[in-house]
Amino acid sequence: MERRVIITGVPGVGKTTVIEGALKRLEPEGIRYNPINFGTFMFDMASKEGIVSDRDQMRRLDRPVQKELQKRAAELISRIGGNVIVDTHCSIKTPNGYLPGLPDWVIDGIRPDTLILVETDEDQILGRRLKDLTRIRDMEGSGAIAEHQQFNRSISAAIATRTGCTVKFVRNQNHLLEQAIEEMTSALR
Ligand code: AP5
Repeated sequence: MERRVIITGVPGVGKTTVIEGALKRLEPEGIRYNPINFGTFMFDMASKEGIVSDRDQMRRLDRPVQKELQKRAAELISRIGGNVIVDTHCSIKTPNGYLPGLPDWVIDGIRPDTLILVETDEDQILGRRLKDLTRIRDMEGSGAIAEHQQFNRSISAAIATRTGCTVKFVRNQNHLLEQAIEEMTSALR
């Protein structure tokens, strides 16, 4: 049976790191997923059209432009078959407030069986953002990061109620990456 899994987490929580670790662990068992980064689909379109030059500019685009890119990315992703992981966001923090990352037109295209939220303590996320010099991260305090994680939990509950998908929380704590990868691996088996 094909599986369709959405994996989310606030920027810098380490979702991509945990996904990569889990996929390596599943390979010898013959379990394969097509990992899709939603932001990369949006960025490829936006950069070809000369709208942005780095992925961190996307959340500052006008809301209608972000929504249009989001719709087009969802349309492309909806056509991909097999076991699929979509690495994305329940919500995106924009200058005008939270933009839903998984509105109906995205969820209806992805048709998830499971929604996984990668989380950890806010101060750890703040520390990772400060260390990651490859990205232009929004600077915010740990209270704001806590609010964002809480908001994402509310969104995940609403999606589960509407679609019947399961919701799993994976904690990715400092010095405990292996544990997070193991939890993610089990969820993807
Ligand atoms: P995206 O590329 O998903 O941006 P992001 O959230 O910033 O994702 P990252 O991959 O940078 O963070 P991550 O949490 O995966 O962390 P990482 O593994 O790198 O999206 C880009 C943009 O696309 C969005 O901003 C938005 O504009 C747009 N977009 C996406 N989906 C959308 C949607 N549905 N609708 C509308 N717009 C959308 O790790 C971070 C750091 O932490 C690394 O340095 C890593 O080494 C370290 N680390 C990880 N785990 C640990 C650990 N256990 N201990 C210590 N350090 C750790």
